[in-house]
Amino acid sequence: MSAEFATASDTTLPLHVLSEDALEKWRAEQDASVQAWVEASGFTGGLGQALVVPGAEGKPVVALAGYGNDAARRRGRFHLAGAAARLPKGDYKIESGLPEDQSATEALGWLLAGYRFERYRDQIPMAAKLVAPEGIDAAHIAAVAQGEMLTRDLINTPASDMGPPDLEAAARKLAEQHGAKIDVTTGDALLENNLPMIHTVGRAADRAPRLIDMRWGDAGPKLTLVGKGVCFDTGGLNLKPGASMGLMKKDMGGAAAVLGLAHMIMATGLAVQLRVLIPAVENSVSGNAFRPGDILTSRKGLTVEINNTDAEGRLVLADALALADEDAPDQIISMATLTGAARVAVGPDLAPYYSDESAFVSALETAANSAADPVWRMPFHDAYEALIEPGIADLDNAPKGGFAGSITAALFLRRFVTESKYAHFDIYGWQPSDAPARPKGGAGQGTRALLAALPKLLDL
Ligand code: BES
Ligand code: MN
Ligand code: ZN
Repeated sequence: MSAEFATASDTTLPLHVLSEDALEKWRAEQDASVQAWVEASGFTGGLGQALVVPGAEGKPVVALAGYGNDAARRRGRFHLAGAAARLPKGDYKIESGLPEDQSATEALGWLLAGYRFERYRDQIPMAAKLVAPEGIDAAHIAAVAQGEMLTRDLINTPASDMGPPDLEAAARKLAEQHGAKIDVTTGDALLENNLPMIHTVGRAADRAPRLIDMRWGDAGPKLTLVGKGVCFDTGGLNLKPGASMGLMKKDMGGAAAVLGLAHMIMATGLAVQLRVLIPAVENSVSGNAFRPGDILTSRKGLTVEINNTDAEGRLVLADALALADEDAPDQIISMATLTGAARVAVGPDLAPYYSDESAFVSALETAANSAADPVWRMPFHDAYEALIEPGIADLDNAPKGGFAGSITAALFLRRFVTESKYAHFDIYGWQPSDAPARPKGGAGQGTRALLAALPKLLDL
């Protein structure tokens, strides 16, 4: 799926962005026929409204997009995307009414509104194309949109076509596109290479577990992204009930997000040494599945008591994080659909994240705002460390009682990073219902905020 702007031509229609407040003044400046058309159409400048105005020959000569009011805009993001989706076929150039500091975000929203998931069925394409507004970096915005679309495609693809081998193929394709190096450790080789927990979680599935290791860039600070690639999460022997399992094709949402972010980083040529690690497994059920009560020894040497086979994400991530940490990169960031508790705490619109660094937090929060990619800080609360210590092993993968489920999962992961700065995102990875520029389905979270924060974070 491509994300492209239109090039201006003599058929390009001028588009006026009109808030409810601004409509009256604009209308008063128009010819009587235009005034009458706008009036009769019921266009009020409401957020998401769209209108084309015909000239003397009946052909459209100007288009309007409603920009609503402050209160309406505060409730959402991508304020032009709703109108853009309603405009008829044609190319449009924003002529007035869009605040300059919003044009990059709104241009991105327009591109993202054009996303369609077409693997299994043709969809009706978006009719209206945007000419890139002046003063924005169109190539940068297109790269961001493409990264997000990659994330969406990967998540939307069901486990039947997005198992560990398919996730590997997607990573290989991305690596090839950008001249990145990629190395994959599969099946029993995981044991030989001391990645035992990735093997244990994935061994019950027919499609072998693997660790995908991609590297790109040879100068600049070292950034390592780690994404949870559980291609389907049945829960394992602690099987999920049907209602909880239904959406678990999205349990590789962290992997999809870091691959999307990697695309953004590579396509925009950020001067970093990027490494992407993805433990790709299916958490499946079979005679050789790992069991509740089993005690695993991780790559790092820490032992882990399995108290729920459904807390598998932290196990595969732990080995990947330990590997990442051996390199002592400047920053490690993990992204994972790790806990139901995160979804309960903040819902699908916010990306909850953990960091102990105030510099990370301030860079990320500023960037999140400008990138229309909201995040919410959660605490690595030291007082809960005791909750992940079972007594019989070093760590418990599923503390009883379920207090602070997202926090205890984050604390578990933090145990495996000792040499690098570390941040972790416990994302949902799914948009539950259609919103402007964000159709129902797979969704990147935190990636655009991170991309915008990286220059500051890494001193680029
Ligand atoms: N993949 C799930 C978490 C999840 C569930 C994310 C629903 C988004 C929506 C994860 O592997 C899981 O099952 N976690 C358990 C952990 C518990 C057993 C300690 C959870 O959150 O219930
Ligand atoms: Mn699970
Ligand atoms: Zn899971």
